[in-house]
Amino acid sequence: MKAIVLKQPGGTEELKYVLLDTPSIRPNEVLVRVKAISINPVDVKTRSGRGLYSRLAGKDPLILGWDISGIVIETGTAVTGLIVGDEVFGMVNFPGHGRAYAEYVAAPADHLALKPAGISHEEAAASTLAALTACQAIIHNAKVKAGQRVLIHAAAGGVGHFAVQIAKHAGAWVAGTSSAANRDLVMSLGVDQHIDYHSVPFEEAVSNIDFVLDTIGGENIDRSLLVTKKGGTVISIPTGLNESVTQKANAAGINGYSILVRSSGSDMKGLAKMLSDKELVAHVSRIFLFDEMAEAHKQVESGHTAGKVIVNL
Ligand SMILES: NC(=O)c1ccc[n+]([C@@H]2O[C@H](COP(=O)([O-])OP(=O)(O)OC[C@H]3O[C@@H](n4cnc5c(N)ncnc54)[C@H](OP(=O)(O)O)[C@@H]3O)[C@@H](O)[C@H]2O)c1
Repeated sequence: MKAIVLKQPGGTEELKYVLLDTPSIRPNEVLVRVKAISINPVDVKTRSGRGLYSRLAGKDPLILGWDISGIVIETGTAVTGLIVGDEVFGMVNFPGHGRAYAEYVAAPADHLALKPAGISHEEAAASTLAALTACQAIIHNAKVKAGQRVLIHAAAGGVGHFAVQIAKHAGAWVAGTSSAANRDLVMSLGVDQHIDYHSVPFEEAVSNIDFVLDTIGGENIDRSLLVTKKGGTVISIPTGLNESVTQKANAAGINGYSILVRSSGSDMKGLAKMLSDKELVAHVSRIFLFDEMAEAHKQVESGHTAGKVIVNL
């Protein structure tokens, strides 16, 4: 099968196209013929030696990527609930070795959900790591409730555009930051207030917030604490697990922490239902070919992607 391997960390020139044997599956896994892959900042960070690189260094071959949509072509002996021919999507083995940049991926069945019939493989692949992060932050961790005031940073980005929709679905009042160029996209997601972060500091635009999703990190965390109610919550995601968020928040009487998204078939099933019911819509802004993986990485590396970047097989 065609695959892309990383022999050493570095620039996009380190993404090497190779031919490998099709993976064999364990009893709990299915073999997926991949139709679309979504690309995340963690792919780019890991490629360059940051992100999950230290966890994956030594894997040979090291195949990047976690987010897939495709078709089941073989099922392990212990798999129930999925059969050959099923169209599935999910985030595979995160934060481990996902091996998604390949024509075929061996995936634990309980990391996947059935792709809703009404959405494309591109939209399904888009609705995996980024959507799971938003779901796990807003629903499982912050437990956002109807009537609460929520601030989503980078509301036009991969995580942010799903987070706005999930928070609105929970019944929250939602503010979202983006540049003016992405204002229409952010408004179309249903935000109650848009903040152009280039023209106004967000702490001058909102206050008394119950929950902030920080997707930026650094001084953005300190500034987010300033707009959060006592007893409110700030979750910061850019640096994975980060103790300093907790310390700064404790000092301000706020629940502050970072999270690392985890593969979850049950969360994927929840997202599949929302996608099927059109309560959640993936915004796919760029689609690249498998041979253009370097271009896809450069787009994500720009830090200014609207919605999601997808690679097609
Ligand atoms: N801990 C975890 O489990 C986890 C999971 C997922 C992601 N992450 C991390 O979370 C971060 C965001 O991920 P992502 O996938 O959403 O990234 P992304 O899609 O690449 O984010 C791009 C968006 O960021 C916006 N942006 C850039 N600077 C901004 C600023 N100062 N204020 C507001 N918006 C800004 C851009 O909007 P404009 O073009 O309008 O500026 C663009 O739409 C990354 O660091 C990623 O690694 C962590």
